[in-house]
Amino acid sequence: MMLRIPALLSSADVRQCREALQQAEWQDGRATAGHQAIAVKSNLQLPLDSPVARRLGDLVLDRLGRCPLFIAAALPRRVLPPRFNRYEGGGAYGNHIDNALFRVPGADEYVRTDISCTLFFSEPDEYDGGELVVEDSYGEHRVKLPAGDMVLYPGTSHHRVTPVTRGARLASFFWTQSLVASEVQRRTLFEMDNAIQRLTADHPDHGSIAALTGVYHNLLRQWSVP
Ligand code: NI
Repeated sequence: MMLRIPALLSSADVRQCREALQQAEWQDGRATAGHQAIAVKSNLQLPLDSPVARRLGDLVLDRLGRCPLFIAAALPRRVLPPRFNRYEGGGAYGNHIDNALFRVPGADEYVRTDISCTLFFSEPDEYDGGELVVEDSYGEHRVKLPAGDMVLYPGTSHHRVTPVTRGARLASFFWTQSLVASEVQRRTLFEMDNAIQRLTADHPDHGSIAALTGVYHNLLRQWSVP
């Protein structure tokens, strides 16, 4: 499932992030690329321990925690600290699949990358190219969203970023381990959650709301690994 989360960040948030990112010290993205990714990756990233990355990462995590759509879709167990990247001057990232596991910074623990997210800081008309292209069994999906919007997609997908031939593309990306590892089960729960919410909005006294909510929780109980 690919899902757009509109306006995760307010315009004030976006302005604050962009100002900080303009002044940040970037490094070659290949410094954090794995074996296979290094050949296809050409961008800039903030070092993981940079104060700007930590401050903006905390802001992003705070907004995620207040976003019911993200919580319903991702059923997050752990979110890795957000990373920040910048593509310009033909920079691109060829087709790849992200690593399955990442170590939690400063801890001897791993997060499984069930879900990938990209959060946009640049407006689409500020740069040419720079589309996130995600492949699934239904074909290719090309994503280029307004600043402040985020896209969520399965960590199992092949994906790439097309070359940025004008301007600069600033974004944040990060991975989430879900309480529900299976993409199919996660999507089923999300669709059921949406249907219950629509039913509740349209017919708040409907007798089936409690029953359906019970089924949702009983499925979550079976499928989740806390
Ligand atoms: Ni990737």
